[in-house]
Amino acid sequence: MISAPTGSPHARILGVGGYRPRRVVPNSEIVDLIDSSDEWIRTRSGIVERRRAGEDETVQMMSVAASRKALDHAGIGIDQIDCVVVATVSHLRQTPAVAALIADELGADHPAAFDISAACAGFCHGIAMANDMVRGGSAQNVLVIGVERLLDITDPHDRGTAFIFADGAGAAVVGPSDEPGIGPVVWGSDGDKADMIQTPDWFDAIEAKETPWLTMDGNPVFRWAAFAMAKVGQEALEKAGITADQLDCFVPHQANMRIVDALARSMKLPGSVKIARDIATMGNTSAASVPLALERMIEEGQAKSGEIALLIAFGAGLVYAAQVVVVP
Ligand SMILES: CC(C)(COP(=O)(O)OP(=O)(O)OC[C@H]1O[C@@H](n2cnc3c(N)ncnc32)[C@H](O)[C@@H]1OP(=O)(O)O)[C@@H](O)C(=O)NCCC(=O)NCCS
Repeated sequence: MISAPTGSPHARILGVGGYRPRRVVPNSEIVDLIDSSDEWIRTRSGIVERRRAGEDETVQMMSVAASRKALDHAGIGIDQIDCVVVATVSHLRQTPAVAALIADELGADHPAAFDISAACAGFCHGIAMANDMVRGGSAQNVLVIGVERLLDITDPHDRGTAFIFADGAGAAVVGPSDEPGIGPVVWGSDGDKADMIQTPDWFDAIEAKETPWLTMDGNPVFRWAAFAMAKVGQEALEKAGITADQLDCFVPHQANMRIVDALARSMKLPGSVKIARDIATMGNTSAASVPLALERMIEEGQAKSGEIALLIAFGAGLVYAAQVVVVP
């Protein structure tokens, strides 16, 4: 018989950190290229401005900055990290995994390091995996990063995506805990809707001499997110053994302010629940959106340590993941 790994009875998020690119891009800078208006963008999406990465603000650079903040917040040294998981769809280098480069730049002690592709839901997938790793014994502390530089794959002339997608990084440290700090994940995929958000096959794009821009069929995605995801959020609450009135914070993926509101309505969240609205100033940063929104709520004193938050994210695949967590 071989020995089985043994981990901590429970895990929790010990700290979070974010990186917001320096350049603020208001709607007025975008509207001419897509024949739109500030008012249309605000009323249809809730976005007022977003951040766009400069040349030096690479996926790696933004991830390292967010990770340092998360490690500080957690009070954990980089040498205590056994695994680095990076969720991204915009690191435009197939291999090696950017996680290994980030771990090296941070000065980590040879941790496991790999990337995952679950689009806007990637961070919540990473948190679910980290929870299982800590509890299962394959890692003691895990660094989970959600990062995007979507400007590289977003067509500035595309009316359906140019005003939505933006750049940034968010990170969290997950480690052992005496009490449950991360509830059961509710996750899944609807692969029959794969063509709703996608980039083209690289070889097809090269042959056609076209940039492999991200495309999105916004309206069906909107309807899917606003209706199907409320059920997923509800199930995450049930699996964590809590009801909506026991929830303190709601941190959904920042895809569209109207989706945020529709989810809160469908889930009948009481008015006392504090809702993340980071999209107004950050746009949709895909895998970075949930950790950035959570970080802002903590920094602004809206989310307090020990409170209970529901995270839910969804995106290309289509894929989704939700879990209840204790705020670090
Ligand atoms: C993209 C999105 C904001 C568009 O809003 P919408 O209400 O669905 O808009 P529609 O595509 O139905 O278009 C409505 C009208 O606005 C027009 N329009 C579309 N894009 C526009 C733009 N950027 N500026 C101005 N007008 C625009 C359309 O031409 C259409 O005009 P018509 O009524 O005269 O035909 C919305 O679909 C959305 O947020 N989708 C989900 C995005 C998302 O969650 N993505 C990420 C998942 S990870």
